Order: sequence, then C-alpha cells, then structure tokens
Amino acid sequence: MNHNLRLGDERRDVLQATFDTVTQVWEGFDKARESEPELTAATAALLAETLPEQGMIHTDALGQAVDVLDQSLAQSRPRFLAYIGSSGLEIGAVADFLAASYDINLAVDARAASTLEVQTSKWLGEFIGFPNARGLFTSGGTVSNITALAAARHRAVPESREMGNTGPMAVYVSSEAHYSNKRAVELLGLGTRAVRSIAIDEQHRMVPAALEEQIRADMAAGVKPMCIIASAGTTLTGAIDPLREIARIAQTYNIWMHVDGAYGAPAAGTDVARDLFDGIELADSVTIDAHKWLFVPKACSIVLVKDYAALAATFGHNEAYMPHEGEEPNPVDVTLEYSRPLRALKLWLGFKAHGASEFRSAITKNIELAQETYSRASVNASFRVLHHRPQLSIVPLQHIPHGMTDPEQISKHNAALCSAIEKDGRVFLSPAVIDGETWLRPCFTNFRTELSDVDVLFEVIEDLGNKR
Ligand SMILES: Cc1ncc(COP(=O)(O)O)c(C=O)c1O
Repeated sequence: MNHNLRLGDERRDVLQATFDTVTQVWEGFDKARESEPELTAATAALLAETLPEQGMIHTDALGQAVDVLDQSLAQSRPRFLAYIGSSGLEIGAVADFLAASYDINLAVDARAASTLEVQTSKWLGEFIGFPNARGLFTSGGTVSNITALAAARHRAVPESREMGNTGPMAVYVSSEAHYSNKRAVELLGLGTRAVRSIAIDEQHRMVPAALEEQIRADMAAGVKPMCIIASAGTTLTGAIDPLREIARIAQTYNIWMHVDGAYGAPAAGTDVARDLFDGIELADSVTIDAHKWLFVPKACSIVLVKDYAALAATFGHNEAYMPHEGEEPNPVDVTLEYSRPLRALKLWLGFKAHGASEFRSAITKNIELAQETYSRASVNASFRVLHHRPQLSIVPLQHIPHGMTDPEQISKHNAALCSAIEKDGRVFLSPAVIDGETWLRPCFTNFRTELSDVDVLFEVIEDLGNKR
C-alpha cells in the first residue's frame, strides 16, 4: 500500500470512483433536494477521528470524503438562494481538477498559463464593457478590492510605500457598500474614520451631489481624497451606483475610481442590464467575482485595471530569490499574493466550452427570475416588496401575516420565518436588514435555478409563514 504518495495501482480505481461520484452529484444538482440531510452519527464520528498515521484503501477514503460533502450545504443546488451563492459550473470544476493536477504557480512567469491569465482577463474586460484593461485573478472580492485600493493609495500618495500614511486621507463608498471595502481601508492603515459613507437614494444608489459635497469639504479641511468606490450591485439589494456621474466627479477632482462589481458586474454583459452600468468604462479599476455570477467554483475573482503600471508601482520589489528578466514585471510584482494557482483556467475553459453567449443567457435568466419573483410578490397581499423593481437579481421580500401591521412585529416574524425556512431545507434564504427592518432576501445567481424553484419558494414561505 505504500506508493510513496502516488496513487500507484489504485489510480484507475480512484479516478473511476471520482468520475462515478461526480456524474451522480451533477445529475443530483439539476434537481433540488426536498430537504437537507442531517449529519449522521457515522460522519460525526469520522470528523472526530485523530490524525491517521497509516493510510487506507483510497477508494474507501474517497467514499468518506463524499459522505462529508453530501452532508454539507452545497451552494450549487438550485434552491440555494441565500447570500450571493455560486453554482460550481461543471466545466469550471473540471478546470480546477486539471489546474490542481498541473499545480502551476503564477507567482512567476509560467509561460502559456501566464498568457492564458492575461487573455482571460482581457476577455472579461470585453464581456463587461471595460476594454483596454488588464487584470489578475485573486482569491475573492475582498482581495481584489484591497488590491485596487492599494493602487489607489499609491496614486494619491506615491511616498506611502516608504513613509506609510503621513496625512489624513478619505475613501468614499455608498452607505450600502460591502464591508470588504472598509476592511481594505483598515488593513491599509487608514482607519475606518477615513471611510466616508455617502448617502443613498430611494433605490439605494449613491447620491452624487452628496459625494461631491463631501469631497469638497474634505479638501477644504486638508484631507486627501484617495479613492471613490462605486458599488455595481450591492450585496444587500443589488443597487448600482450612478457610474457615469461618479466618474465625472472622480475626473474633476483627480481621484481613483474603483468599481466593486464583485457581484453585479457580469450583468453588464447582458442586453437587459447593460445600460445600468453606463460609465463603468471610465473607472480606473473593477472587481468581478467569477465565483459569484459567472458561476465558476470558488475561489475566482478578478481585479481589472486600466493602468497596469500602477500595480507594479504599488507591489513591485526586487528580492534576490525573485529573478527579474525582461520588460514584463513578475506577477508577484503586481499582486498582493505570492503563490497563486491558475484560477483563470475555469473561466477560460467556461468561455471556450460554452461561449460568452451562454453566460449572458444564464445571467439574463436569473434577472428574469428575480423580476418574476418581484411581480408575483407585489400582487400577493401576503407579501411586501421594496418600492422599486430589482436592479439585478436580489429581491427583498417580507411575508406579512394577515392583519399584522406593526413594522417591528413584521421584522420579528420574518427573522423567525427565515430560521424556519433554513431548518425546513427545501429552500435556502438569508435574512437582510434593510432600512432597519428584517427582510427575506432571495438572490438568483445560479444557472440551475428554474421557474419551478420560484414556485417552491413562494409555497415554502407561505406554508411556513402562515403557520407562525
Ligand atoms: C459587493 C461585494 N463586494 C465584495 C465581496 C467580497 O467577496 P469575496 O467573498 O469573494 O471576498 C462581496 C461578497 O459577497 C460582495 O457582494
């Protein structure tokens, strides 16, 4: 049995078992489960085992791993509508298997794989309408955002790499921006007081006049505006800030404009939503999470920048163990991370296998499901919806039991209902607090979700909501 860490003569059996399992799993993902299985006693015991000093028959070990996975919450299932889920795109999972098998490291030039990463980032720029940009794949929106923010700081205060933050700076976000932006500000040592939380309108979009007023006030007070972060699809409601107007302000005051499109930016590649992203091409950088609305398995985010040299100025360094050859900077000279896997392959293979058009259609279908959900809820007396239709694919809903009018009671009811829905397991939803009230927040970002799943969503909410 000792193969010196090779699978040896068990290789075929392991691959065959993997193939059989994955085939079954993917077929299973096409239909939702009626409920989620509880952790079995056997799995609980397995997960309490101590370090195995000796190996076991590999296919048996594989079977145990599959048991654990099968009793885990897979976002790939069609009725996982909580948070901003992902779908585990099949060809993307295959790409991960291949990329992991080759185990290429993009820390330095990896030849064809490095070129593939550049090519894929350019394809993505073309897809969302952010041309002439180049980018890098990161582990998530959080890392993409901090990468862009670090470049913005270097642009605003070039001596900051050497001197640190020598004077007060400000970063502008909508009051609905994702927390990762605040975290980036914290990690860059600016302190959260540098974050200017700009007012939003009734559609939850940043108010440009309030932004401009704040920038002027900061400049008058000797505070350096460092970056404006526009959200292109907020996590809470899917709101898209007015990008063109924000870009005008950024240009007027010479401030780096970053678009956090971690969730929403892929919708810019569709006919139904493209106009909402008008002006995105004027930004300095954009974050896009392919592991959200481009359906590929985690972890796969991209930060696209107009001025690639800005990344080199921010991260470039010259260490003896990192030889520099030729004109092109080493990837580690433009990234926060050192060792990086070939994350781009899953998107590259996705575009090659399905074509951009299939991605556009799947995103459009999600948007249509969101619109349908909104329409149904808005004519059903048991539901309350926001005043405006969803901009993307998040549809906040409140279930309103007959005769209940007190907002506080309605909030409590929906919070309890959300827990009951999670326990029930037919549908997965997460709650969200919007303007001080608790809502159910279905989010459609899975290509497997169908209209029949929307039927079940309403059935489950009404069934459990009316029992409470
Ligand atoms: C708008 C937005 N930005 C950033 C992030 C963080 O992305 P990640 O979880 O990939 O780090 C999220 C996550 O939901 C998001 O919705």
